[in-house]
Amino acid sequence: MFQEGLLKDKVVLVTGGGTGLGRAMSTRFLELGAKVAIASRRQEVLEQAAQEMMAATGGEVFATPTNVRDPVQVSQMMDAVEARFGRIDVLLNNAAGNFVSPTERLSHRAVDAVLGIVLHGTFYCTLELGKRWIAKKQGGAVLNIATTYATTGSGYVVPSAVAKAGVVSLTKSLAAEWGKYGIRLNAIAPGPFPTEGAWSRLMPTPEFQAKFEKRIPLGRVGEHSELANLASYLISDLSAYVTGDLIHIDGGETVWNGGEFNILDDISSEQWDMLEAMRKVK
Ligand code: HXC
Ligand code: NAP
Repeated sequence: MFQEGLLKDKVVLVTGGGTGLGRAMSTRFLELGAKVAIASRRQEVLEQAAQEMMAATGGEVFATPTNVRDPVQVSQMMDAVEARFGRIDVLLNNAAGNFVSPTERLSHRAVDAVLGIVLHGTFYCTLELGKRWIAKKQGGAVLNIATTYATTGSGYVVPSAVAKAGVVSLTKSLAAEWGKYGIRLNAIAPGPFPTEGAWSRLMPTPEFQAKFEKRIPLGRVGEHSELANLASYLISDLSAYVTGDLIHIDGGETVWNGGEFNILDDISSEQWDMLEAMRKVK
């Protein structure tokens, strides 16, 4: 399905592309022929990732240190990528900030930190590039990384839940408004995919991790390659008619959590026999 030249000549800008899932997706795009620009705050992390990704794939990677919370830096990042590659075809809004905490323990600065990266950062990047695409009469694709709880809400990660819900709304709203310019927007809701950044902040102990894995019908966490392949499809021309959608890749976690009777997973076969016998008596 994924032929070598699927993303040939596409220039893809990936925020948070130097670590974790952003790096995994960037690497896959390179294997499929794309040129990739990666942007995040830590220059040394970006530069090392760029070197390693180029060595691994033979592709071209441009590292551009940027804080997406700052709209001026976002604009400078777009200038730098356009100067290097001549154009930008795809934006992958992947940069994020998150941590687990009872909400009443948060300061307003903690709220601002997460909303600033996730919601404002995604909006600034999308707005800046969208204006450029519209001015040049060039279409493009935006892919936003959301979360499963963007649509359900979730305690203990409330700034992230609020920000990601906004990102999903941005995806749908602009898909409707900017379709006429040939701009597509989609979002992915990943379930748990182990990364250093997420696990250190959200699943710090094996007990924490086990709790999450138990609730996934497919019985395991996601593999980076699985997310990278879905992202490759959504930014490629194979998905030219897909826009405004939120696609879950979570081993069934979201539907399991949403179904009232799914807790009956814990009932043994013998208990089911007993329940059936009780039903027959009546
Ligand atoms: C409560 C916290 C906190 C915590 C920081 N703060 N961590 N409050 N609990 N664990 C507060 C600080 O005390 C401070 O408030 C305010 O937040 C800003 O903190 P800074 O450290 O100054 O912010 P900054 O340097 O901008 O760092 C942002 C960050 C950090 C979000 C706090 O964690 C970060 O850089 N994260 C980037 C990577 C990341 O989060 N990756 C995980 C993504 S996973 P005060 O009042 O003290 O000044 C994800 C979904 C995973 O998004 C889903 C899994 C299934
Ligand atoms: P990660 O490695 O910590 O990725 C977050 C990235 O965002 C880092 O590269 C970080 O780089 C960058 N970033 C943070 N603040 C930034 C800022 N102000 N400006 C620019 N870049 C910034 O974690 P991950 O697990 O790969 O997460 C990637 C994406 O997947 C996120 O959107 C996350 O919400 C989503 N997600 C992850 C999971 C999971 O299970 N891992 C599940 C659902 C959704 P710097 O620190 O250098 O800036």
